[in-house]
This record gives sequence, structure tokens and C-alpha cells, in this order.
Amino acid sequence: MNNGVNVAVFGATGAVGAEMVKVLEERNFAVNNLRLLASRGGRSMKWRGGDVPVEAVTLASFEGIDAALFAVEGDVSREWAPLAVRSGAVVIDNSSAFRMDPDVPLVVPEINEEDMVTHKGIIANPNCSTIIALIALAPIHRAVGIKRLVASTYQAVSGAGKAGLDELEQQTRDYAQGKPLSVSAFQYQIAFNLIPHIDAFGEDDYTKEELKMRNESRKILHAPDLRVSCTCVRVPVARSHSEALTIETERAISPEEAREILKTAPGVKVVDAPLDKKYPMPLDTADQDLIYVGRIRPDQSLDPGKHGLVLWVSGDQIRKGAATNAVQIAEVVIS
Ligand SMILES: NC(=O)c1ccc[n+]([C@@H]2O[C@H](COP(=O)([O-])OP(=O)(O)OC[C@H]3O[C@@H](n4cnc5c(N)ncnc54)[C@H](OP(=O)(O)O)[C@@H]3O)[C@@H](O)[C@H]2O)c1
Repeated sequence: MNNGVNVAVFGATGAVGAEMVKVLEERNFAVNNLRLLASRGGRSMKWRGGDVPVEAVTLASFEGIDAALFAVEGDVSREWAPLAVRSGAVVIDNSSAFRMDPDVPLVVPEINEEDMVTHKGIIANPNCSTIIALIALAPIHRAVGIKRLVASTYQAVSGAGKAGLDELEQQTRDYAQGKPLSVSAFQYQIAFNLIPHIDAFGEDDYTKEELKMRNESRKILHAPDLRVSCTCVRVPVARSHSEALTIETERAISPEEAREILKTAPGVKVVDAPLDKKYPMPLDTADQDLIYVGRIRPDQSLDPGKHGLVLWVSGDQIRKGAATNAVQIAEVVIS
């Protein structure tokens, strides 16, 4: 593709959209023309040393666009993705709108790039916590088969978009100044607190966010029988989700074997020297694409004769959990 492709970022002014623009530039993506879309215009964003105007999305927005990166909520995606596809664009969608549609590939390029070949115009980017967990778990699954996963997530406020980050910062400032705290992005005060409630409650009192970990992991790993139980918690961290993952495996695997497998796995950095106080933490993983994995140890709760491990992971959910994964998918699409 000599002259590059025409790319739209829809939701460009949000947490994920703005990061997509940054990642496209960093990875020197072959962009010919970049169109930035949001609910309204009257703004501009930096791109390759210049300013690109933000346009209000309209029916004409996707004309001539080859790849449309969607970083908007699910109902907005549901409305606009079919229109973008009709205009000839391939849509890479970050919302949960299409993820479980059997006609829509759900892709982490390091794990199941081959699933993309069957796309019919829309490719879905998985849930951020699921991407972060599976970058670490897929190589272990390939080696010894994972049959059960118990996950507890510690999710950054920016996972709720720009409004979530703004709220933690404002509450922290107000707290320091002895002012009353106002709450709008989350159910309760998030500064100096944590909230075990992300997305709406659904089946069996699990939240939809928790069920995404189960359903999306099964689809990405092609493991329909994988048993998953997940608890998702919002924590007062700006950026990068962390997760405690307990896995039961088909075949035996020692922590040393897992570390060896993960050392050469794409997208992973093993940080696992607990006696030297080296383990994954969100401050270390923010603003980059690698998923850090550490605290790898035997699961002491297993029945005799069963196999499994406990791991701790941390990764930037706006980058590998959203923007970078979407741009990687777009790179495969245009190649
Ligand atoms: N944040 C994360 O860590 C993360 C991770 C993975 C996936 N996701 C998913 O990525 C998507 C975007 O999340 P975000 O965190 O970036 O949200 P955000 O910061 O709230 O940004 C939302 C974007 O959508 C635009 N928008 C909102 N309503 C619109 C409408 N009716 N018509 C057109 N544009 C509209 C906003 O434009 P205006 O500026 O004009 O309002 C803004 O650009 C969501 O589906 C989210 O679930 C987020």
C-alpha cells in the first residue's frame, strides 16, 4: 500500500481514541488521510506535528475511509458501525457491542490473529481486562491446557474513560483541601476507596464486566468449556489494570516452567523476583504495551493430583487493553 490508507478514529477525544491517535503515530502506521470524529466538532488534535480538526460524526464521515477505529460506547457503535461498513470501511470496534456476535472475530493478534480472516467488515477488540489476562495465560494454555480460571481484577479509573480519571483527580484535590467530594462517574467516592462493581449486574449476581472475562476468554482461546469465575474491582489507580489469576491446568506445570514459557511469549515481560521486591505494579506498566507477569507460584488450595498456578499481572488497559490492540488489528487488516 504505497500511499497508505485512509483512517478514521471515532471517539478521538476520549481516553482510548486519543491514545489510538498517539499509537498510530508512534507505530508509523501507513496513514494517508486521518479523520478524527466525535459527538461534536470545534476542536483539534495533534497529529504528525500539525493539527487535525475533530469533526462531528455524520453519514458522510466514513466515505473513502479504509479502516475505522471505533472508541465509543456500545450504543454509539451499534448505530454507526454498520453505516461505516456500508461505506466500505473495515471497523475495529472497542466496545462490547459486537464481541460475542458469531460473525464478528474477537481478536488479540498475539493469540488468534487467524480468526480475522473470516471478518465481514467488523472486528472486535476484546475487553481490556480479558486482553491483559490472556496475553499471560494463552501461552500457558497452549502448553498445558487451562481448564479453570479464577480472576480478581484491580481496575484503574481511566477504564471508565476520561471522566473516571478526572473524577479521581478532582476528589483527591478536594480531599486534600478539606472540601466535600462530588461523585458522578462512579457509584461511590473512589478516592481512598475501592468499588466491587463495574458495569451492570447480570447473571447470578455477576457484573457484565465479570461475565466478559468468561465469555470472551472462551471465544478467543477457542475453549468453550473453560470454567471462569471473576470479581472486578475499581481501585483508585489512574492507569493500568492489575489482576490476580488462579488457574487449574490439565497437565502439571511448575512456576519455573511457566516463567520460561512466558519469557519468550509475545507482549509479556516477566517481573518475578519477590525477594528483591520485583513484581508487576500499575505505575511501572502505564504508558507502554507490555503486560508484566509475576508472583508466579503454586496454588496451595488445589486438591491432591490437581495442577495449577497463581499469577499476578499488570498492564496498561488504554494501550494494550484497547488502543494498541486495535491498531495492531488494523495493521494486519491493511497488510
Ligand atoms: N478506557 C478504557 O480503558 C477502555 C478500555 C477498553 C475498552 N474501552 C471501550 O472503549 C470505548 C471508549 O471508551 P473511553 O474510555 O475512551 O471513553 P471516553 O473517554 O468517555 O470517550 C468517549 C468518546 O466517545 C465520543 N462520544 C460519546 N458519545 C458520542 C455520541 N453520541 N456520538 C459520537 N461520539 C460520541 C466522545 O466524544 P465527545 O468528546 O464529543 O463527547 C469521546 O470521544 C468504550 O466502548 C469503552 O468501553 C475503554
